[in-house]
Amino acid sequence: CAMRLRLAGAVLLAAAAYYVYLPLPSGVSEPWKLMLLDALFRSFMRSDAAHSLGVCHRVRLLNRVVSWVEVIEARSSPTVKVIDSSLGGVPTRVFQPNGDSRLRRGVIYFHGGGWALGSASGFNPRSDVFIIFLKMAEDLDAVIMSVDYRLAPEAVFPDQYHDAVAASRVFLSAELLQQYSIDPERLCVSGDSAGGNLAAAVAQELSLDDSLQVKFKAQALIYPVLQALDFHTPSYQQNQAVPILYRPYMARFWLQYLGADSSLEPVLLANNHSALDQRAISAATRSKLNWTALLPTERKKNFKPVVEEKGSPGVVGAVPGLMDVRAAPLLAEQEVLGKTPQAYVMTCEFDVLRDDGLMYGRRLRDAGVEVTSDHYEDGFHGCMVFANLPMMSSVGQRSMRNYIRWLDQNL
Ligand SMILES: *[C@@H]1O[C@H](CO)[C@@H](O)[C@H](O)[C@H]1NC(C)=O
Ligand SMILES: *[C@@H]1O[C@H](CO)[C@@H](O)[C@H](O)[C@H]1NC(C)=O
Repeated sequence: CAMRLRLAGAVLLAAAAYYVYLPLPSGVSEPWKLMLLDALFRSFMRSDAAHSLGVCHRVRLLNRVVSWVEVIEARSSPTVKVIDSSLGGVPTRVFQPNGDSRLRRGVIYFHGGGWALGSASGFNPRSDVFIIFLKMAEDLDAVIMSVDYRLAPEAVFPDQYHDAVAASRVFLSAELLQQYSIDPERLCVSGDSAGGNLAAAVAQELSLDDSLQVKFKAQALIYPVLQALDFHTPSYQQNQAVPILYRPYMARFWLQYLGADSSLEPVLLANNHSALDQRAISAATRSKLNWTALLPTERKKNFKPVVEEKGSPGVVGAVPGLMDVRAAPLLAEQEVLGKTPQAYVMTCEFDVLRDDGLMYGRRLRDAGVEVTSDHYEDGFHGCMVFANLPMMSSVGQRSMRNYIRWLDQNL
């Protein structure tokens, strides 16, 4: 009852403080819950005052607010041990099922949050666990390792990437697998949003490394962000004003991750950085994110590509990360993609990043990789990891169940 009261109070407060009619697209799962979630997120992302603080400070505040309304208290489960450890010097939270020492499946996970927010335990720093990891550990009888890679703005690309790769190398090592009784044949790299970006980049990098004895069996990418050259894919156009990840936020996260000046935001949003006068972007590179060729008709709808003749040709030179495959895994060559393990790619209809994921799935498939494409017609960005908040949505729970089921059947 106290918890209910607390929850009701939090919800009322959030609604009262930030009630704004939000014209959500019809078809989005449980719009009022999304509105509440958005009210929290937006209050820290949208205001100009907050803008000048940088994403990070807003995020600490956001973390605090989210943890305040969080109903899942810090707890470990009777069946899963939660251990703080490190992988290759990178802090990592381990969820290890109790019991005998028979070999188990293993998942290394990178959390989302624009390379700037979140933590190995989700968005709640007070909570010891991220409910999804407990559930994964229990339902899959798997060891889950959630990596606390460094965050922007203190760390910028390639720091996050390097942390992810370093942690993954140790995860695949014989010593580590033995220490936690993990089956070397049943390993997955996974992550959501910016963590999906890191997971895809890790899968590429380590698939190319012939010195590794042990490889990932699967990659599971949850609404991943994969490219920063086109901010006018149909999903960016369709969902630019859909919570919680508004189109400008994504440009801001990218610029911050790549250590670039935030004043470039309008340039990115105009696709001026990838205009045709930008010679550094070859036709071959453009074809890797050419959505008119890579997306199915039902996603292209009537949207038109935005390709400027003249733009701001200095930008790609000034921000080399835009063209770096370690930051933008969609730019990988087909031969590289073809070496990566079988894939699960979750996408949501009401998400600016939908087409990043759909194009990646298509390119992986073209490269010969087995791909399960799990698309949620009523899904929105972040729905799966917010499955344990008071605003828990049906699509959040459905997506979590299906993700875990895919792992169960394929790992
Ligand atoms: C994208 O693909 C379409 C359809 O195949 C093609 O007509 C167009 O020239 C391509 N654009 C680029 C930039 O590669
Ligand atoms: C995009 O580039 C064009 C041509 O250089 C320029 O006129 C326009 O102001 C630029 N827009 C932005 C937002 O930078």
